Amino acid sequence: MATSRIVALLAVVPLLPFVLILLLQLGLRALGWHLQANTKERKEAIVRRVEAERAAVTEHQRSQEAEDGWEKIEKSGTAENGHPVPDDWNGVVGFFHPFCNAGGGGERVLWAAIAATQRRWPNAICAVYTGDHDIERGAVVAAVRNRFDIALQEHSLVFLYLSRRNFVLASNYPYLTLLGQSLGSLVLAYDAFQLLVPDTFIDTMGYAFAVAFCKYLFPKVPTAAYVHYPTISTDMLESLDDTTGDRGIHSGAGKGLKGTGKRYYWHAFAKLYGFVGRQIDVVMCNSTWTQGHIRQLWKPKKASSSFATIIYPPCPVEELEKKIDLTPEGEKQRGNTVLYIAQFRPEKNHSLILRAFAKFYHATKDKPKLVLIGSVRSSTPDERHVYNLRLEARELKVQDATTFICDAPFSVILDHLRTSSIGTNGMYAEHFGIGNVEGLAAGLVPVVHNSGGPKLDIVVPFQGLPIGFLADTDDDYAAAYARVAAMSAQERLEMRLRGRASTKRFTEEAFARKWVAEMETLVGMQKSR
Ligand SMILES: *[C@@H]1O[C@H](CO)[C@@H](O)[C@H](O)[C@H]1NC(C)=O
Ligand SMILES: *[C@@H]1O[C@H](CO)[C@@H](O)[C@H](O)[C@H]1NC(C)=O
Repeated sequence: MATSRIVALLAVVPLLPFVLILLLQLGLRALGWHLQANTKERKEAIVRRVEAERAAVTEHQRSQEAEDGWEKIEKSGTAENGHPVPDDWNGVVGFFHPFCNAGGGGERVLWAAIAATQRRWPNAICAVYTGDHDIERGAVVAAVRNRFDIALQEHSLVFLYLSRRNFVLASNYPYLTLLGQSLGSLVLAYDAFQLLVPDTFIDTMGYAFAVAFCKYLFPKVPTAAYVHYPTISTDMLESLDDTTGDRGIHSGAGKGLKGTGKRYYWHAFAKLYGFVGRQIDVVMCNSTWTQGHIRQLWKPKKASSSFATIIYPPCPVEELEKKIDLTPEGEKQRGNTVLYIAQFRPEKNHSLILRAFAKFYHATKDKPKLVLIGSVRSSTPDERHVYNLRLEARELKVQDATTFICDAPFSVILDHLRTSSIGTNGMYAEHFGIGNVEGLAAGLVPVVHNSGGPKLDIVVPFQGLPIGFLADTDDDYAAAYARVAAMSAQERLEMRLRGRASTKRFTEEAFARKWVAEMETLVGMQKSR
Protein backbone atom coordinates (compact mmCIF):
# COMPACT_ATOMS: atom_id res chain seq x y z
CA MET A 1 0.00 0.00 0.00
CA ALA A 2 2.70 2.41 1.12
CA THR A 3 4.95 1.56 -1.85
CA SER A 4 2.17 2.12 -4.34
CA ARG A 5 1.56 5.52 -2.79
CA ILE A 6 5.26 6.38 -3.15
CA VAL A 7 5.23 5.19 -6.74
CA ALA A 8 2.20 7.36 -7.45
CA LEU A 9 3.94 10.31 -5.83
CA LEU A 10 7.13 9.74 -7.83
CA ALA A 11 5.09 9.65 -11.01
CA VAL A 12 3.80 13.11 -10.19
CA VAL A 13 7.25 14.62 -9.58
CA PRO A 14 8.14 15.20 -13.26
CA LEU A 15 4.87 17.07 -13.63
CA LEU A 16 5.70 19.48 -10.83
CA PRO A 17 7.30 22.18 -13.01
CA PHE A 18 4.25 22.17 -15.23
CA VAL A 19 1.96 22.45 -12.25
CA LEU A 20 4.02 25.36 -10.96
CA ILE A 21 3.93 27.11 -14.31
CA LEU A 22 0.21 26.58 -14.52
CA LEU A 23 -0.27 28.01 -11.05
CA LEU A 24 1.90 30.98 -11.93
CA GLN A 25 -0.12 31.62 -15.05
CA LEU A 26 -3.36 31.40 -13.14
CA GLY A 27 -1.96 33.72 -10.50
CA LEU A 28 -1.02 36.29 -13.14
CA ARG A 29 -4.47 35.98 -14.71
CA ALA A 30 -6.08 36.61 -11.37
CA LEU A 31 -3.82 39.59 -10.80
CA GLY A 32 -4.70 40.91 -14.23
CA TRP A 33 -8.38 40.48 -13.55
CA HIS A 34 -7.97 42.35 -10.28
CA LEU A 35 -6.07 45.19 -12.00
CA GLN A 36 -8.70 45.45 -14.69
CA ALA A 37 -11.50 45.61 -12.15
CA ASN A 38 -9.62 48.17 -10.07
CA THR A 39 -8.92 50.55 -12.94
CA LYS A 40 -12.26 50.19 -14.68
CA GLU A 41 -13.68 53.35 -13.17
CA ARG A 42 -10.66 55.43 -14.05
CA LYS A 43 -10.78 54.16 -17.59
CA GLU A 44 -14.44 55.04 -17.92
CA ALA A 45 -13.78 58.49 -16.50
CA ILE A 46 -10.98 59.07 -19.03
CA VAL A 47 -13.17 57.90 -21.89
CA ARG A 48 -15.99 60.20 -20.76
CA ARG A 49 -13.63 63.14 -20.43
CA VAL A 50 -12.13 62.60 -23.89
CA GLU A 51 -15.61 62.28 -25.38
CA ALA A 52 -16.70 65.51 -23.75
CA GLU A 53 -13.59 67.28 -25.05
CA ARG A 54 -14.13 65.82 -28.48
CA ALA A 55 -17.69 67.09 -28.51
CA ALA A 56 -16.45 70.54 -27.49
CA VAL A 57 -13.79 70.53 -30.22
CA THR A 58 -16.31 69.44 -32.84
CA GLU A 59 -18.74 72.09 -31.70
CA HIS A 60 -16.01 74.72 -31.86
CA GLN A 61 -15.04 73.61 -35.36
CA ARG A 62 -18.63 73.78 -36.47
CA SER A 63 -19.01 77.33 -35.30
CA GLN A 64 -15.67 78.23 -36.96
CA GLU A 65 -16.90 76.72 -40.19
CA ALA A 66 -20.10 78.68 -39.98
CA GLU A 67 -18.00 81.82 -39.58
CA ASP A 68 -15.30 81.11 -42.11
CA GLY A 69 -17.32 79.38 -44.77
CA TRP A 70 -16.33 75.93 -45.91
CA GLU A 71 -12.75 76.62 -46.95
CA LYS A 72 -10.99 76.43 -43.64
CA ILE A 73 -12.33 73.19 -42.29
CA GLU A 74 -10.00 71.72 -39.70
CA LYS A 75 -8.44 68.77 -41.42
CA SER A 76 -7.57 66.60 -38.45
CA GLY A 77 -9.15 63.20 -38.65
CA THR A 78 -10.20 63.41 -42.27
CA ALA A 79 -9.11 61.27 -45.14
CA GLU A 80 -6.60 63.57 -46.76
CA ASN A 81 -3.62 62.94 -49.01
CA GLY A 82 -4.03 59.22 -49.37
CA HIS A 83 -4.35 58.33 -45.71
CA PRO A 84 -6.82 55.51 -45.23
CA VAL A 85 -10.38 56.38 -44.36
CA PRO A 86 -10.81 56.90 -40.63
CA ASP A 87 -12.36 54.12 -38.64
CA ASP A 88 -14.60 54.51 -35.63
CA TRP A 89 -12.76 52.08 -33.37
CA ASN A 90 -12.54 53.81 -30.00
CA GLY A 91 -10.20 51.71 -27.89
CA VAL A 92 -7.41 52.90 -25.65
CA VAL A 93 -3.92 52.42 -27.07
CA GLY A 94 -1.33 52.39 -24.29
CA PHE A 95 2.16 53.56 -25.29
CA PHE A 96 4.80 52.48 -22.79
CA HIS A 97 7.43 55.20 -23.02
CA PRO A 98 8.76 56.00 -19.53
CA PHE A 99 11.23 58.61 -20.76
CA CYS A 100 9.01 60.44 -23.17
CA ASN A 101 10.48 63.89 -22.84
CA ALA A 102 14.04 63.04 -23.81
CA GLY A 103 13.61 64.80 -27.16
CA GLY A 104 15.69 62.39 -29.23
CA GLY A 105 15.04 60.13 -32.19
CA GLY A 106 13.00 57.68 -30.12
CA GLU A 107 10.57 60.45 -29.30
CA ARG A 108 10.11 61.36 -32.90
CA VAL A 109 9.00 57.78 -33.48
CA LEU A 110 6.57 57.92 -30.57
CA TRP A 111 4.90 61.13 -31.71
CA ALA A 112 4.80 60.14 -35.35
CA ALA A 113 3.19 56.83 -34.30
CA ILE A 114 0.59 58.61 -32.21
CA ALA A 115 -0.19 61.09 -34.97
CA ALA A 116 -0.63 58.26 -37.49
CA THR A 117 -2.85 56.33 -35.08
CA GLN A 118 -4.98 59.39 -34.44
CA ARG A 119 -5.51 60.05 -38.14
CA ARG A 120 -6.62 56.51 -38.80
CA TRP A 121 -8.69 56.06 -35.61
CA PRO A 122 -9.77 59.55 -34.61
CA ASN A 123 -11.97 58.16 -31.85
CA ALA A 124 -9.24 56.09 -30.24
CA ILE A 125 -7.50 57.34 -27.12
CA CYS A 126 -3.70 57.37 -27.14
CA ALA A 127 -2.45 57.06 -23.59
CA VAL A 128 1.26 57.55 -22.93
CA TYR A 129 2.74 56.03 -19.79
CA THR A 130 5.53 58.38 -18.83
CA GLY A 131 7.78 58.93 -15.87
CA ASP A 132 8.10 62.66 -16.60
CA HIS A 133 5.79 64.26 -14.10
CA ASP A 134 6.40 67.80 -15.20
CA ILE A 135 5.00 67.50 -18.69
CA GLU A 136 1.67 68.93 -19.60
CA ARG A 137 -0.38 68.04 -22.62
CA GLY A 138 -0.77 71.43 -24.26
CA ALA A 139 2.93 72.18 -23.95
CA VAL A 140 3.88 68.78 -25.36
CA VAL A 141 1.59 69.18 -28.36
CA ALA A 142 3.12 72.60 -29.08
CA ALA A 143 6.70 71.35 -28.60
CA VAL A 144 6.12 68.35 -30.87
CA ARG A 145 4.76 70.64 -33.54
CA ASN A 146 7.72 73.02 -33.31
CA ARG A 147 10.42 70.49 -32.97
CA PHE A 148 9.30 67.67 -35.21
CA ASP A 149 6.58 69.36 -37.28
CA ILE A 150 4.14 66.66 -36.21
CA ALA A 151 0.51 67.64 -35.55
CA LEU A 152 -1.13 65.78 -32.67
CA GLN A 153 -4.82 65.77 -31.87
CA GLU A 154 -4.77 67.10 -28.35
CA HIS A 155 -8.08 66.03 -26.88
CA SER A 156 -7.54 62.30 -27.34
CA LEU A 157 -3.99 62.30 -25.96
CA VAL A 158 -3.69 61.27 -22.33
CA PHE A 159 -0.64 61.14 -20.07
CA LEU A 160 -0.46 58.61 -17.28
CA TYR A 161 2.27 59.32 -14.80
CA LEU A 162 4.48 56.48 -13.59
CA SER A 163 6.06 56.80 -10.18
CA ARG A 164 8.54 53.92 -10.16
CA ARG A 165 10.78 54.81 -13.06
CA ASN A 166 13.86 54.47 -10.86
CA PHE A 167 13.40 50.70 -11.11
CA VAL A 168 14.70 50.71 -14.67
CA LEU A 169 17.78 52.86 -14.11
CA ALA A 170 21.00 50.97 -14.80
CA SER A 171 22.69 52.66 -11.84
CA ASN A 172 20.49 50.63 -9.45
CA TYR A 173 21.97 47.38 -10.66
CA PRO A 174 25.76 47.34 -10.36
CA TYR A 175 25.64 43.56 -10.93
CA LEU A 176 23.52 41.67 -13.42
CA THR A 177 22.42 44.96 -14.92
CA LEU A 178 20.56 43.49 -17.89
CA LEU A 179 18.49 41.22 -15.71
CA GLY A 180 17.99 43.85 -13.04
CA GLN A 181 16.71 46.42 -15.48
CA SER A 182 14.47 43.89 -17.16
CA LEU A 183 12.89 42.78 -13.90
CA GLY A 184 12.69 46.43 -12.89
CA SER A 185 10.64 47.07 -16.01
CA LEU A 186 8.08 44.56 -14.68
CA VAL A 187 7.64 46.73 -11.61
CA LEU A 188 7.24 49.74 -13.83
CA ALA A 189 4.74 47.93 -16.04
CA TYR A 190 2.77 46.93 -12.96
CA ASP A 191 2.81 50.58 -12.00
CA ALA A 192 1.38 51.38 -15.45
CA PHE A 193 -1.41 48.79 -15.31
CA GLN A 194 -2.40 50.03 -11.89
CA LEU A 195 -3.16 53.33 -13.57
CA LEU A 196 -5.00 51.94 -16.55
CA VAL A 197 -5.33 48.68 -18.44
CA PRO A 198 -5.28 49.61 -22.14
CA ASP A 199 -7.09 47.85 -24.99
CA THR A 200 -3.82 47.40 -26.80
CA PHE A 201 -0.34 47.84 -25.38
CA ILE A 202 2.70 49.06 -27.30
CA ASP A 203 6.25 49.41 -26.05
CA THR A 204 8.34 51.98 -27.89
CA MET A 205 11.42 51.99 -25.69
CA GLY A 206 12.67 48.44 -25.64
CA TYR A 207 10.96 47.07 -22.54
CA ALA A 208 10.13 43.67 -23.97
CA PHE A 209 9.63 42.19 -20.51
CA ALA A 210 6.88 44.68 -19.81
CA VAL A 211 5.07 43.61 -22.98
CA ALA A 212 5.29 39.92 -22.17
CA PHE A 213 4.06 40.70 -18.66
CA CYS A 214 1.03 42.40 -20.20
CA LYS A 215 0.37 39.27 -22.25
CA TYR A 216 0.31 37.09 -19.14
CA LEU A 217 -1.81 39.50 -17.09
CA PHE A 218 -4.29 40.29 -19.85
CA PRO A 219 -4.30 37.61 -22.54
CA LYS A 220 -6.97 39.51 -24.45
CA VAL A 221 -4.94 42.69 -24.86
CA PRO A 222 -2.98 42.62 -28.14
CA THR A 223 0.62 43.76 -27.75
CA ALA A 224 3.35 45.26 -29.90
CA ALA A 225 6.94 46.38 -29.60
CA TYR A 226 8.83 48.87 -31.72
CA VAL A 227 12.47 47.91 -31.26
CA HIS A 228 15.24 50.46 -31.72
CA TYR A 229 17.91 48.28 -30.26
CA PRO A 230 17.97 44.72 -28.93
CA THR A 231 18.62 44.51 -25.18
CA ILE A 232 21.27 41.88 -25.84
CA SER A 233 22.72 41.31 -29.27
CA THR A 234 24.40 38.38 -30.87
CA ASP A 235 27.34 40.73 -31.42
CA MET A 236 27.73 40.97 -27.67
CA LEU A 237 27.64 37.20 -27.25
CA GLU A 238 30.24 36.73 -29.97
CA SER A 239 32.51 39.43 -28.59
CA LEU A 240 33.12 37.30 -25.49
CA ASP A 241 35.23 34.95 -27.55
CA ASP A 242 37.01 37.67 -29.44
CA THR A 243 40.78 37.66 -29.20
CA THR A 244 41.61 40.59 -31.45
CA GLY A 245 40.44 43.15 -28.91
CA ASP A 246 38.50 45.29 -31.35
CA ARG A 247 34.99 44.05 -30.78
CA GLY A 248 34.08 46.69 -28.24
CA ILE A 249 34.28 46.91 -24.47
CA HIS A 250 33.37 43.27 -23.91
CA SER A 251 36.05 41.97 -26.25
CA GLY A 252 37.48 38.77 -24.94
CA ALA A 253 35.59 39.09 -21.65
CA GLY A 254 34.67 35.42 -21.86
CA LYS A 255 38.01 34.22 -20.46
CA GLY A 256 38.67 32.83 -17.00
CA LEU A 257 36.26 31.87 -14.26
CA LYS A 258 34.55 35.23 -14.21
CA GLY A 259 34.32 35.10 -17.98
CA THR A 260 32.66 31.70 -17.86
CA GLY A 261 30.13 33.07 -15.41
CA LYS A 262 29.47 36.01 -17.68
CA ARG A 263 29.05 33.72 -20.65
CA TYR A 264 26.46 31.59 -18.84
CA TYR A 265 24.65 34.66 -17.64
CA TRP A 266 24.52 36.29 -21.06
CA HIS A 267 23.45 33.15 -22.84
CA ALA A 268 20.77 32.48 -20.22
CA PHE A 269 19.62 36.06 -20.51
CA ALA A 270 19.49 35.79 -24.30
CA LYS A 271 17.28 32.68 -23.94
CA LEU A 272 14.99 34.49 -21.54
CA TYR A 273 14.90 37.53 -23.81
CA GLY A 274 13.96 35.28 -26.70
CA PHE A 275 11.16 33.68 -24.72
CA VAL A 276 9.88 37.09 -23.73
CA GLY A 277 10.07 38.42 -27.28
CA ARG A 278 8.05 35.50 -28.60
CA GLN A 279 5.08 36.52 -26.46
CA ILE A 280 4.67 39.78 -28.39
CA ASP A 281 1.98 39.84 -31.07
CA VAL A 282 3.40 42.46 -33.42
CA VAL A 283 7.10 43.24 -33.67
CA MET A 284 8.53 46.21 -35.54
CA CYS A 285 12.20 47.15 -35.96
CA ASN A 286 13.82 50.44 -36.84
CA SER A 287 16.40 49.08 -39.31
CA THR A 288 17.80 46.03 -41.03
CA TRP A 289 20.48 45.73 -38.36
CA THR A 290 17.93 45.61 -35.55
CA GLN A 291 15.71 43.26 -37.52
CA GLY A 292 18.57 40.83 -38.05
CA HIS A 293 19.25 40.61 -34.33
CA ILE A 294 15.63 40.46 -33.28
CA ARG A 295 14.89 37.71 -35.79
CA GLN A 296 17.80 35.70 -34.48
CA LEU A 297 16.77 36.12 -30.86
CA TRP A 298 12.98 36.18 -30.98
CA LYS A 299 11.82 34.44 -34.08
CA PRO A 300 9.12 31.88 -33.21
CA LYS A 301 9.45 28.52 -34.97
CA LYS A 302 6.44 28.98 -37.17
CA ALA A 303 6.73 32.71 -37.77
CA SER A 304 5.85 34.15 -41.13
CA SER A 305 8.60 35.61 -43.27
CA SER A 306 7.30 39.06 -42.42
CA PHE A 307 8.05 38.62 -38.72
CA ALA A 308 9.57 41.81 -37.31
CA THR A 309 8.84 44.25 -40.11
CA ILE A 310 11.16 47.17 -40.64
CA ILE A 311 9.56 50.55 -40.15
CA TYR A 312 12.18 53.24 -40.61
CA PRO A 313 11.89 56.11 -38.19
CA PRO A 314 10.70 59.24 -39.93
CA CYS A 315 13.61 61.43 -41.03
CA PRO A 316 13.18 65.13 -41.78
CA VAL A 317 13.84 64.76 -45.49
CA GLU A 318 10.97 66.91 -46.79
CA GLU A 319 12.45 69.99 -45.17
CA LEU A 320 15.76 69.53 -47.00
CA GLU A 321 13.91 68.98 -50.26
CA LYS A 322 12.14 72.27 -49.81
CA LYS A 323 15.31 74.15 -48.91
CA ILE A 324 17.68 72.76 -51.54
CA ASP A 325 16.91 72.82 -55.26
CA LEU A 326 18.15 70.04 -57.45
CA THR A 327 18.33 71.78 -60.80
CA PRO A 328 21.06 72.49 -63.38
CA GLU A 329 21.43 75.95 -61.76
CA GLY A 330 21.78 74.34 -58.34
CA GLU A 331 24.40 72.01 -59.79
CA LYS A 332 26.54 75.02 -60.75
CA GLN A 333 26.67 76.10 -57.11
CA ARG A 334 28.21 72.82 -56.07
CA GLY A 335 32.00 72.65 -55.86
CA ASN A 336 34.23 69.60 -55.98
CA THR A 337 33.74 69.18 -52.26
CA VAL A 338 33.51 66.10 -50.08
CA LEU A 339 31.38 66.64 -46.97
CA TYR A 340 31.49 64.47 -43.86
CA ILE A 341 29.01 65.29 -41.10
CA ALA A 342 29.67 63.22 -37.98
CA GLN A 343 30.55 63.72 -34.35
CA PHE A 344 34.28 63.93 -33.83
CA ARG A 345 34.70 60.53 -32.22
CA PRO A 346 37.22 57.80 -33.02
CA GLU A 347 34.66 55.26 -34.27
CA LYS A 348 33.54 57.69 -36.97
CA ASN A 349 36.97 57.13 -38.51
CA HIS A 350 37.67 60.61 -39.81
CA SER A 351 41.21 59.43 -40.19
CA LEU A 352 40.22 57.00 -42.92
CA ILE A 353 38.41 59.79 -44.75
CA LEU A 354 41.44 62.08 -44.44
CA ARG A 355 43.73 59.46 -45.92
CA ALA A 356 41.27 58.71 -48.70
CA PHE A 357 40.82 62.35 -49.48
CA ALA A 358 44.58 62.88 -49.55
CA LYS A 359 44.95 60.15 -52.17
CA PHE A 360 42.19 61.71 -54.24
CA TYR A 361 43.61 65.21 -53.78
CA HIS A 362 47.17 64.40 -54.76
CA ALA A 363 46.06 62.46 -57.83
CA THR A 364 44.11 65.29 -59.42
CA LYS A 365 44.72 68.90 -60.44
CA ASP A 366 41.14 69.94 -59.63
CA LYS A 367 41.86 71.14 -56.08
CA PRO A 368 39.00 69.33 -54.38
CA LYS A 369 38.00 70.27 -50.85
CA LEU A 370 37.09 68.31 -47.75
CA VAL A 371 34.72 69.72 -45.15
CA LEU A 372 34.38 67.95 -41.80
CA ILE A 373 31.45 69.13 -39.69
CA GLY A 374 30.77 67.65 -36.30
CA SER A 375 29.84 68.23 -32.74
CA VAL A 376 32.46 68.06 -30.04
CA ARG A 377 31.32 67.12 -26.55
CA SER A 378 33.11 69.60 -24.35
CA SER A 379 35.65 68.43 -21.75
CA THR A 380 35.85 64.99 -23.36
CA PRO A 381 38.62 63.37 -25.38
CA ASP A 382 36.79 64.68 -28.48
CA GLU A 383 38.73 67.94 -28.33
CA ARG A 384 42.04 66.13 -28.35
CA HIS A 385 40.71 63.99 -31.18
CA VAL A 386 40.04 67.02 -33.38
CA TYR A 387 43.51 68.30 -32.65
CA ASN A 388 45.02 64.99 -33.74
CA LEU A 389 42.97 65.00 -36.90
CA ARG A 390 44.27 68.46 -37.77
CA LEU A 391 47.81 67.18 -37.31
CA GLU A 392 47.03 64.26 -39.56
CA ALA A 393 45.66 66.57 -42.26
CA ARG A 394 48.93 68.48 -42.07
CA GLU A 395 51.01 65.34 -42.37
CA LEU A 396 48.97 64.29 -45.38
CA LYS A 397 49.51 67.74 -46.90
CA VAL A 398 45.85 68.47 -47.28
CA GLN A 399 45.52 71.02 -44.48
CA ASP A 400 44.74 73.86 -46.88
CA ALA A 401 42.04 71.86 -48.62
CA THR A 402 40.45 70.66 -45.39
CA THR A 403 38.02 72.63 -43.24
CA PHE A 404 37.08 71.56 -39.73
CA ILE A 405 33.84 73.01 -38.40
CA CYS A 406 32.87 72.21 -34.82
CA ASP A 407 29.33 72.55 -33.50
CA ALA A 408 27.98 74.31 -36.59
CA PRO A 409 24.49 75.82 -36.50
CA PHE A 410 21.91 74.39 -38.88
CA SER A 411 22.22 77.31 -41.33
CA VAL A 412 25.92 76.58 -41.85
CA ILE A 413 25.26 72.87 -42.32
CA LEU A 414 22.58 73.71 -44.84
CA ASP A 415 24.99 75.87 -46.84
CA HIS A 416 27.46 73.03 -47.06
CA LEU A 417 24.77 70.54 -48.01
CA ARG A 418 23.84 72.89 -50.82
CA THR A 419 27.34 73.54 -52.14
CA SER A 420 29.10 70.19 -51.69
CA SER A 421 29.07 67.39 -54.20
CA ILE A 422 29.76 64.22 -52.22
CA GLY A 423 28.53 63.08 -48.82
CA THR A 424 30.83 60.59 -47.16
CA ASN A 425 30.92 58.39 -44.07
CA GLY A 426 33.84 56.39 -42.70
CA MET A 427 32.34 54.47 -39.81
CA TYR A 428 32.42 50.68 -39.80
CA ALA A 429 29.07 48.90 -39.22
CA GLU A 430 27.15 52.04 -38.34
CA HIS A 431 23.66 50.88 -37.35
CA PHE A 432 21.97 53.41 -39.52
CA GLY A 433 23.28 56.94 -39.79
CA ILE A 434 20.51 59.46 -40.28
CA GLY A 435 23.16 61.88 -41.56
CA ASN A 436 23.53 59.73 -44.66
CA VAL A 437 19.82 60.02 -45.33
CA GLU A 438 19.93 63.76 -44.89
CA GLY A 439 22.86 63.97 -47.28
CA LEU A 440 20.91 62.01 -49.89
CA ALA A 441 17.86 64.20 -49.44
CA ALA A 442 20.06 67.25 -49.87
CA GLY A 443 21.36 65.86 -53.16
CA LEU A 444 24.85 64.74 -52.15
CA VAL A 445 26.22 61.68 -53.91
CA PRO A 446 27.04 59.25 -51.10
CA VAL A 447 30.40 57.51 -50.83
CA VAL A 448 29.98 55.48 -47.67
CA HIS A 449 31.45 52.55 -45.80
CA ASN A 450 30.54 49.18 -47.25
CA SER A 451 28.91 47.91 -44.05
CA GLY A 452 26.03 48.41 -41.65
CA GLY A 453 23.02 50.59 -42.28
CA PRO A 454 24.59 52.69 -45.04
CA LYS A 455 25.05 49.49 -47.05
CA LEU A 456 21.88 47.60 -46.03
CA ASP A 457 19.34 50.38 -45.73
CA ILE A 458 20.47 53.59 -47.32
CA VAL A 459 22.78 53.43 -50.34
CA VAL A 460 20.82 50.74 -52.16
CA PRO A 461 19.95 50.97 -55.87
CA PHE A 462 16.82 52.90 -56.70
CA GLN A 463 14.71 51.57 -59.58
CA GLY A 464 17.63 49.37 -60.49
CA LEU A 465 20.14 52.22 -60.78
CA PRO A 466 22.92 53.18 -58.36
CA ILE A 467 22.52 56.22 -56.14
CA GLY A 468 26.06 56.25 -54.76
CA PHE A 469 29.15 54.24 -53.93
CA LEU A 470 30.31 51.85 -51.22
CA ALA A 471 33.95 51.67 -50.16
CA ASP A 472 36.14 49.65 -47.78
CA THR A 473 39.65 51.02 -48.03
CA ASP A 474 41.08 54.49 -48.55
CA ASP A 475 41.86 53.49 -52.13
CA ASP A 476 38.21 52.57 -52.74
CA TYR A 477 37.08 55.87 -51.32
CA ALA A 478 39.58 57.85 -53.36
CA ALA A 479 38.52 56.02 -56.53
CA ALA A 480 34.86 56.72 -55.81
CA TYR A 481 35.50 60.42 -55.19
CA ALA A 482 37.35 60.56 -58.47
CA ARG A 483 34.52 58.82 -60.27
CA VAL A 484 31.94 61.29 -59.03
CA ALA A 485 34.21 64.17 -60.01
CA ALA A 486 34.65 62.69 -63.49
CA MET A 487 30.92 62.36 -64.18
CA SER A 488 29.23 64.85 -66.46
CA ALA A 489 27.11 67.48 -64.71
CA GLN A 490 24.02 65.88 -66.21
CA GLU A 491 24.96 62.42 -64.96
CA ARG A 492 25.67 63.72 -61.47
CA LEU A 493 22.40 65.60 -61.32
CA GLU A 494 20.52 62.48 -62.34
CA MET A 495 22.21 60.52 -59.59
CA ARG A 496 21.35 63.24 -57.07
CA LEU A 497 17.72 63.19 -58.16
CA ARG A 498 17.57 59.40 -57.83
CA GLY A 499 19.13 59.60 -54.38
CA ARG A 500 16.63 62.16 -53.28
CA ALA A 501 13.72 60.17 -54.68
CA SER A 502 14.95 57.12 -52.77
CA THR A 503 14.62 58.94 -49.45
CA LYS A 504 10.83 58.76 -49.78
CA ARG A 505 11.26 55.50 -47.86
CA PHE A 506 12.25 57.49 -44.82
CA THR A 507 9.52 60.12 -44.75
CA GLU A 508 6.93 60.55 -42.08
CA GLU A 509 4.32 59.52 -44.59
CA ALA A 510 6.04 56.21 -45.30
CA PHE A 511 6.36 55.65 -41.57
CA ALA A 512 2.67 56.39 -41.01
CA ARG A 513 1.58 54.01 -43.75
CA LYS A 514 3.56 51.10 -42.35
CA TRP A 515 2.68 51.90 -38.76
CA VAL A 516 -1.03 51.94 -39.52
CA ALA A 517 -0.73 48.60 -41.33
CA GLU A 518 0.70 47.01 -38.17
CA MET A 519 -1.86 48.75 -36.00
CA GLU A 520 -4.63 47.28 -38.18
CA THR A 521 -3.48 43.86 -37.05
CA LEU A 522 -3.68 44.89 -33.41
CA VAL A 523 -7.07 46.55 -33.76
CA GLY A 524 -8.36 43.51 -35.64
CA MET A 525 -7.19 41.24 -32.81
CA GLN A 526 -8.72 43.50 -30.22
CA LYS A 527 -12.08 43.55 -31.99
CA SER A 528 -12.16 39.79 -32.34
CA ARG A 529 -11.28 38.97 -28.74
C1 LIG B 1 17.62 52.49 -34.37
O1 LIG B 1 17.84 52.78 -33.03
C2 LIG B 1 19.19 52.77 -32.62
C3 LIG B 1 19.23 52.99 -31.13
O2 LIG B 1 18.60 54.18 -30.78
C4 LIG B 1 19.97 53.83 -33.37
O3 LIG B 1 21.33 53.73 -33.03
C5 LIG B 1 19.77 53.64 -34.84
O4 LIG B 1 20.38 54.68 -35.53
C6 LIG B 1 18.31 53.60 -35.17
N1 LIG B 1 18.09 53.35 -36.56
C7 LIG B 1 17.44 54.19 -37.32
C8 LIG B 1 17.11 53.69 -38.67
O5 LIG B 1 17.10 55.30 -36.93
C1 LIG C 1 39.37 53.07 -39.71
O1 LIG C 1 39.41 52.39 -40.96
C2 LIG C 1 40.59 51.61 -41.16
C3 LIG C 1 40.54 51.06 -42.58
O2 LIG C 1 39.34 50.37 -42.81
C4 LIG C 1 40.66 50.53 -40.10
O3 LIG C 1 41.85 49.77 -40.27
C5 LIG C 1 40.65 51.16 -38.72
O4 LIG C 1 40.62 50.16 -37.75
C6 LIG C 1 39.44 52.07 -38.58
N1 LIG C 1 39.52 52.76 -37.33
C7 LIG C 1 38.51 52.81 -36.48
C8 LIG C 1 38.73 53.59 -35.24
O5 LIG C 1 37.43 52.28 -36.69
